Amino acid sequence: MILRSISARLALAFLVVAGVAVGVITLYVLPSLQDRLQEQKLASLKTAARTYSRPLRQAIGSNLDEKAIDSEVRAAADRANARVTLLGVTRGTEGLTTYVISDSAEEIDISDLSFAVALEAAKAGRVVTGTEASDEGRLGQAARPLRYNGRVARVVVFSSPLSDVNETVDLIRRRILVAGGLAVVVALLVGVLVSRPLSLRIRRLERGARQVTAGDFGARFPVGSRDELGQLARTLDEMQRQLAQLDEARKRFIATASHELRTPIFSLSGFVELLLDEDLDEETRRTFLVQVRDQVARLRTLTTELLDLSRLEAGSLELRPERTDVGTIVRAVASEFLPALSTHGSHLELRLPATTVEAVCDPERVAQVLRILVDNALVHTPPGTDVVVAASQADGRVALAVRDSGPGIRHADVHRIFEPFYTSGDAPGSGLGLAIAHELAERMHGRLTVESQPGRTTFSFELPARPPTE
Ligand SMILES: Nc1ncnc2c1ncn2[C@@H]1O[C@H](COP(=O)(O)OP(=O)(O)O)[C@@H](O)[C@H]1O
Ligand SMILES: [Mg+2]
Repeated sequence: MILRSISARLALAFLVVAGVAVGVITLYVLPSLQDRLQEQKLASLKTAARTYSRPLRQAIGSNLDEKAIDSEVRAAADRANARVTLLGVTRGTEGLTTYVISDSAEEIDISDLSFAVALEAAKAGRVVTGTEASDEGRLGQAARPLRYNGRVARVVVFSSPLSDVNETVDLIRRRILVAGGLAVVVALLVGVLVSRPLSLRIRRLERGARQVTAGDFGARFPVGSRDELGQLARTLDEMQRQLAQLDEARKRFIATASHELRTPIFSLSGFVELLLDEDLDEETRRTFLVQVRDQVARLRTLTTELLDLSRLEAGSLELRPERTDVGTIVRAVASEFLPALSTHGSHLELRLPATTVEAVCDPERVAQVLRILVDNALVHTPPGTDVVVAASQADGRVALAVRDSGPGIRHADVHRIFEPFYTSGDAPGSGLGLAIAHELAERMHGRLTVESQPGRTTFSFELPARPPTE
């Protein structure tokens, strides 16, 4: 429908405003103007009737002949610039009646006029005004009773056509209609002119949004001006930048994940082919089987980690917080690493306070973070590197620290080690461990940070002692 477009609606709104204005003027202002003009006209006739009827009153009772009276009437009409009619009053059995004695406009037939105002004035004994329809249109009339010996003997009526009032009002009405028509045209033009650039800009934004929907993250949203649309464009542009980044990250993640999965699978299928060889001696077969076992272990870790990370990022990983003694978790994790520590020739020192360190947290997930950190402290350091795991509590926070005396992390790498798949390249890991630990810490309303220099690398894992009231 055409009214769906902003220009059409805006033009229609302007049109309605112009229409209402014209309507109010013609229906409300013009009639009251007409009434006012008519009242003014009657008032001036009334004044004329008061001012110019004296000679006519004096003529009553005198024996002026018909002609003389006619000329008095005409004289009054000339002075008042109105038509003057002199009427006699008779008192019959049916009450008062009037009859025309003389009229200033003899040439005009007055037989159709009833002079109701004259009768009224005679009855009321005062000046009465009114209107009456005639062949030449409506007349305004002012009737003044003339007394003789205390009784109303005659009535003089001053009348004047109201056509000039109507003409004036008609003229104004015509002008208003013309002005209204003009206003409507201007309103339509302005509506279109104002809304066209707006709808063009909206359409540009829409085109951009469509491009993004279709997966083209290179789409741009031209900002243009600082108004609301500009603001919207800015927001969309920002959104699209974020989407592009997310899309980029997602693609990178999928590419790396599939690469990481493919490597052990290819290696596995290679070893399986080799194992199928019947002539294999027992020694080699064992070596291959150990390789197969390692690759399967790698695949298992990788898939578990991938699953954990995707659950964490999707927010679907459920945490089961409970009141936990963190010291117990630290001791349990440390004992899990005893075999690894002895192969690595390292010593692990626990630094736990005398009192219990309690936090409300998911013990399984805290243990997972600790495992990742201790594992790194062994895997990414040369054999014989000592490790310290410490726990403390202060200001409603529980702080865990895993420190090693290894060569440390290169300065350029420090802020990237929490990214998924980021590895230094020399170790067998897939680079998901710290990414998972970081996400887990955030999900538990905690923090995981690192400080590293040669000979001293510390990962600090902070947790709230009580869960925040959500
Ligand atoms: N204690 C540490 N000492 C030195 N480098 C570390 C240590 N912990 C982590 N790193 C670096 O951070 C990278 C990412 O660690 P992580 O996410 O656990 O992946 P992975 O252990 O699979 O390589 C490692 O490849 C390593 O370069
Ligand atoms: Mg690791």
